Amino acid sequence: MPTIEGTVDNKRQELKEKVYEINKIAALFYHEALYKPTSKLAQEYVKKRKLDNKTLKAYTIGYAENNSNLYKFLKTKGFTDEEILASDLVNKMGNNFVDRFRNRLIFPIQDVRNRYIAFGGRVLDDSLPKYINSPENIVYSKARNLYGLNIAKNSNLEKLLIVEGYMDVVSLHQRGIENVVASCGTALTEAQGRLLRKYAQKIIISYDSDAAGQAATLRGLEILNNLGCDIRILQMEGAKDPDEYVIKYGNGRFNNLIDKAISLIEFKVKVLKKDLNLENTNDKIKFLNEVAKLVSTVDNRIEQEIYIDKISMDYNISKEAIYAEINKLNYSKNQGKKTLESKFVRTVTKKKETIPEALIKRENIIIGLLLNGKEEVYEQIKNILSPEDFKSEQNKKIVKSLYEEFEKGNSNINNILEKFNEDEEIISIITGIMADDYEIKNDKKAIEDLIKNYQKERLLNRKKEIINSLNNVNLGLHESESLEKELQDIIIKLAQIK
Ligand code: UTP
Ligand code: MN
Repeated sequence: MPTIEGTVDNKRQELKEKVYEINKIAALFYHEALYKPTSKLAQEYVKKRKLDNKTLKAYTIGYAENNSNLYKFLKTKGFTDEEILASDLVNKMGNNFVDRFRNRLIFPIQDVRNRYIAFGGRVLDDSLPKYINSPENIVYSKARNLYGLNIAKNSNLEKLLIVEGYMDVVSLHQRGIENVVASCGTALTEAQGRLLRKYAQKIIISYDSDAAGQAATLRGLEILNNLGCDIRILQMEGAKDPDEYVIKYGNGRFNNLIDKAISLIEFKVKVLKKDLNLENTNDKIKFLNEVAKLVSTVDNRIEQEIYIDKISMDYNISKEAIYAEINKLNYSKNQGKKTLESKFVRTVTKKKETIPEALIKRENIIIGLLLNGKEEVYEQIKNILSPEDFKSEQNKKIVKSLYEEFEKGNSNINNILEKFNEDEEIISIITGIMADDYEIKNDKKAIEDLIKNYQKERLLNRKKEIINSLNNVNLGLHESESLEKELQDIIIKLAQIK
C-alpha cells in the first residue's frame, strides 16, 4: 500500500518531469526564435559577439522575444498553469501570465545528464540588469550546477577551466578550448567544487581580471583548496575576461596562459606584493613575514623549497632571508605566541549604500507591487505618490503607464511591456523587477512602510526649506509666523511617524 509520503514524492517527481519537459521545449522554442526574420536585432547581436551557428546550436542559445508567446505555446502543448509556473519561465502577475525572459539572448543551463534545468537571459544592449536568471526551483539548484559541464565533460579533462560567464564558456569552446565551465558570476560553492573534482585532476581558475573577479578568485581558491584540488590560477593581461582575450589574441596565446597558470601560493604572494613597495624596509619586513607564513602552510619540504626558490627569484629577495623568517615563525609558534592574522583573508570592502541606490530599490518595490496588479494596492499607492515623485526617469515612465492602465481598468502587464516595445532599457528594468522577487510577504505592511518613508522624506525636506527661509532676514512678520507654525506642525508629525 502506498504511504502518504510516497504519494507526495510521486507527485513531486511527476511535476519535476513536467518541468524538465517544459524547459526543453522552451530552450528549443527560444533557439528557433533566434532564426526568425523578425529577430534581426538578436541576430546582429550574436554576430557582433562573433558566435557561429555551430556554437549557437551546441549550447542551444536562443532569443526570447518581447511577448508572452512562450506561455501561449506551452498551453497549446497541454501543460497546466501550475506546471508552467513551476518552471519559472512564466510569472503570474495578477491574473496575467507573463513570460519571464523578454528581448534577451537566452543561455539554457543543462545538468550533466543534459537535462535543461534553468536559463540565463542577456540584454542585447548595455542596459541593466545585464542578465536575469531562473530562480532556484524544483529542478534547479544553483549551488550544485556548473554551466557547460554537460559539454565540457566530453572533452579531454586532464585540466578543467573555470570561468565566470556564459559568454566566456561559449567563446572559448568555439575556439577549441572545450574543457571549460562557468560558475555564473556567483561565489563558487563546495558542491560545485566537488563536482569539478569529480571530473578533473587539475582545475584552472580563469576569472575576470577586474577587482571583483580577483576577489572571487580568492574565495573560490579557498574552497577548492580545502577540497584538496590541484588548482592553478590563470593570469590575464590586456583583456577583461577570457572571451575578450581569446578574440583579441587567439587561442594559441590563451593556451600559453593556461600552461603558465600559477599556484595558489604564488597567487597569494602576488596579491600581497601588490600593496607593498619592497624598496621600503617596513614593507619588505611585512612581505617576508607573510611569505614565511604562506610557505610554511605547505607540508611537503621539497615543495616548500621550490616555492622559496621561485619567490626569491621573482621578487629578488635572498632565500636566506625567507628561511630566517620561517625559522623565526616556528620559534614564536613554539613559544605559544599569537601569530598575526593572515593578510590574505581580506574582507571585501562593503560597497557603501548610497542614497540613490536605496531609493531605486524602494521605487522598484513599489513598481513590483503595482505589477502584481491588485486594484486596492494601486488605490493606496496612487494616493501618496504621483509618477513625478519617482526619481529615476525610467521609473517615472513605467509608473505613469501603469497608472494609465489601472485607470482604464486593466492591468495586463503584457500590454504594458508591449507598449515599451522600442525601449529596451525599460523592458529590461521591468523584467528585472519581475525577476527579482522582492519577497514581499505582506503587501499591506510593505505599503505602509513605504508611505511612512515618503511622508517622512517630504516632511524633512519641507523642514529644511522652512529653516532656510526663516534665516532670511527680509522675511515679513506675518510670513515668519506662519512658517514657524508650519514648522511646529512638521516636528509633531515627524515625531508621530517614528
Ligand atoms: P559578466 O558580466 O562577466 O558576463 O558576468 P559575461 O558572461 O562575460 O557577459 P558579457 O561578455 O558581458 O556579455 C559573469 C556572469 O555573471 C552572471 C552571469 O552568469 C554572467 O555570465 N551575471 C552577471 C548575472 O547573473 N547577472 C548579471 O547582471 C551579471
Ligand atoms: Mn564578458
